[in-house]
Amino acid sequence: MFRTKTVEQSIRDTEEPEHRLRKSLSAWDLTVFGVGVIIGTGIFVLTGKVAKENAGPATSLAFIVAGIVCALAALCYAEFASTVPVAGSAYTFSYASIGELPAWIIGWDLVLEFALGTAVVAVGWSGYVRSLLDNVGLHLPAVLSGVDVPGGVFDILAFALVLVLTAVLVIGVKLSARITTIIVSIKVTVVMIVIVAGLFFIKAENYLPFIPPKQLQPTESGFAQPLIQLLFGYQPTNFGVMGIFTAASVVFFAFIGFDVVATAAEETKVPQRDMPRGILGSLFICTVLYVAVALVITGMEHYTRISVSAPLADAFKAVGHPFYAGVISFGAAIGLTSVCMILLLGQTRVFFAMSRDELLPRFFSITHPRFGTPYRPTVLLGVVIAIVAGFTSINELATLVNIGTLFAFVVVALGVIILRRTRPDLPRAFRTPMVPLIPVLSIAASVWLMLNLPTETWLRFAIWMVIGFVVYFLYGRSHSRLAGGRR
Ligand code: ALA
Repeated sequence: MFRTKTVEQSIRDTEEPEHRLRKSLSAWDLTVFGVGVIIGTGIFVLTGKVAKENAGPATSLAFIVAGIVCALAALCYAEFASTVPVAGSAYTFSYASIGELPAWIIGWDLVLEFALGTAVVAVGWSGYVRSLLDNVGLHLPAVLSGVDVPGGVFDILAFALVLVLTAVLVIGVKLSARITTIIVSIKVTVVMIVIVAGLFFIKAENYLPFIPPKQLQPTESGFAQPLIQLLFGYQPTNFGVMGIFTAASVVFFAFIGFDVVATAAEETKVPQRDMPRGILGSLFICTVLYVAVALVITGMEHYTRISVSAPLADAFKAVGHPFYAGVISFGAAIGLTSVCMILLLGQTRVFFAMSRDELLPRFFSITHPRFGTPYRPTVLLGVVIAIVAGFTSINELATLVNIGTLFAFVVVALGVIILRRTRPDLPRAFRTPMVPLIPVLSIAASVWLMLNLPTETWLRFAIWMVIGFVVYFLYGRSHSRLAGGRR
């Protein structure tokens, strides 16, 4: 009764006429979808932060570095996700193919990625809404403006947004394809406005020096410096060439979301051709937009003066154009809401799947009697995420999301290599080119970015993973369906 499916069985199921998803997506559809999920807080908020603190005008180079790391990972992810295109998440796939513990690790890791990712986007959204409120003369007290603002303690807007979206997901409201397209258009238009309008305000002297010289950071504790600096005994520095990599490890966040595109393989007309086009296409478009935005923003204002909470809008305020600033904040607020909702949704679904497999208590996978949604994990996680978003700095959250995601990329790339050996016979809708070269490069690139993250991020991540192992060995291992837990 509780036998698990084999990979073949899962694939056969998708071929039954009544369960077959329509293969309707083209490379273009995938690209639009990708751009819609990818563009968010990364470009709208983190750009300002890293320009000011890590890379100055060279922030544009950081986006290129992060884009390359993601492109490598994307090629592996597409094979992983398209080999068993049933459930659409790396968690389910590794469970069916590699084993329970790796699956648990990825699942636990994805919860971190999506949950904290939601919090990051909510905090970013709050910055733009505050900028918008400022425009119309309403000023939120500093104490309620979030910990990244001087004197701030609690981010009431981010907190409220997560709670509202949680309620929306419990009721089961979905964004229709039409609304999604409109939101994507608004978002891209706003980014284009920043680039085109911003061009007129660039001052060449703001680019000098393009790579600001290394600066010692005597006040920071050792744990705030990148692990690589700590390991090799450098003195903690900001800027310089290493600053570009530090910045890349932070703005990596801006690219998160393309992994969601890979999960649409089963619905793609010609996955082998369209998947790489769609994924690499959306990554390429985003990278070009990001580099352009970074160049414009650091050209409009000297990097030392860039705003950290709503940099794109505030740059226009700084050059005396509050109208543009208002339009940008408005578009950003709308665009970020949808990214936040997609991440929150992804997060509850992973948690739900893990609970259905009984690696987490089954209590969480009982759906709502009326709405048919997994309301228990949605409410539990929604409330936790809202509190985290209210009280934590965006940078701390984003780096933790990044380390978790990069770690998942490493596991996925390894998984591709392992499966080519252990199951060469599996039909693969998409095959990563040049295996094992591309997966190995992907692992190296991901590990390199991870090493450039702050030591304290590694510590937090280690704590999260240790908790994960404890939960698994105390609960999941004995309760799991595979182990015949439900007797
Ligand atoms: N890439 C998405 C963002 O930047 C998650 O918000």
